[in-house]
Amino acid sequence: MTDTINNPDNSRRTFLTLAAAGPAALAFGGAALAQTTDADPARLPGTGRAAIVTGSSRGIGAATAKRLARDGYAVTVNCLVNTDLAAQVVAEIEAEGGRAIWRQADVADPDAVRALFAANNEAFGGVDVVVSNAGIMNVGPFADMTDAAFDRMIATNVKGSFNTLREAARQVRDGGRIITLSSSIILQVPPGAAAYAGTKADQQLYAKALARELAGRNISVNAVAPGAVDTQLLRQHGEEALRGIPEATPLGRLGQPEDIAEVIALLCSQGGGWVNGETVFANGGLS
Ligand SMILES: NC(=O)c1ccc[n+]([C@@H]2O[C@H](COP(=O)([O-])OP(=O)(O)OC[C@H]3O[C@@H](n4cnc5c(N)ncnc54)[C@H](OP(=O)(O)O)[C@@H]3O)[C@@H](O)[C@H]2O)c1
Repeated sequence: MTDTINNPDNSRRTFLTLAAAGPAALAFGGAALAQTTDADPARLPGTGRAAIVTGSSRGIGAATAKRLARDGYAVTVNCLVNTDLAAQVVAEIEAEGGRAIWRQADVADPDAVRALFAANNEAFGGVDVVVSNAGIMNVGPFADMTDAAFDRMIATNVKGSFNTLREAARQVRDGGRIITLSSSIILQVPPGAAAYAGTKADQQLYAKALARELAGRNISVNAVAPGAVDTQLLRQHGEEALRGIPEATPLGRLGQPEDIAEVIALLCSQGGGWVNGETVFANGGLS
């Protein structure tokens, strides 16, 4: 199977190209080469490859889908209810010259997840990157959490991510990348966040275990754990949920979806491949 991201031949080619370019290119540690490869679409890390991003109609998922498309990946966008937003993400990717489709699928339903992968494969011939991003945040003290709120969160975040990662384990081509969304909240666990934090701690374990299960196939599996990011997931809980965060963050602002998309793109790049089975915290220093 094709293994373009992790192909060790690439580093040999890089050295030979630098050597051919002469001492100036070698002296600058490859900066000249980096400029030419960035400008060549055929050399983008996602060229000829496909990515599925669950929950990508808005927020971190939408930013990730658009970012991976800019890296050359054909992208399958997914939503639960906001089909208009999913179609808009696809339209934005296509307007920039990328390739994308969208499909509605509830990640809590294993058949729907299988259909999502099938749609991707039909459109793009296979899958190289899966980002298990779909998630919800229901918060409240133990004493007040309803059965329905708890069950829906487990169904989406724990079972939904399992459904997605199981399909990824079966279908991602050798040399690919699998990423699941954890949260920096697992480091703090503020009152009222125990149930949500539990679902996100689970992603850390999923990533570590799956990285080991896929040993020998050159597939890197990691969790990305954002701090507070300015999306509907937080804003649905009111301005109170955001109060004080920029002031408490060493980098002095709230996270944006694009901040997290960049980290995911880095892990999906050739240079990110040695990170495997880890949880990457991305929170501007607020941990
Ligand atoms: N925002 C933060 O501060 C933060 C911090 C740490 C971790 N995270 C994690 O990052 C991920 C994305 O969060 P976000 O802030 O971008 O959330 P968001 O803006 O609320 O977006 C959630 C996305 O997930 C989709 N979705 C929800 N339930 C789904 C289901 N059952 N099946 C398929 N898609 C579903 C939504 O689709 P519809 O539009 O159709 O509803 C939407 O595209 C989540 O896993 C979250 O736990 C977020």
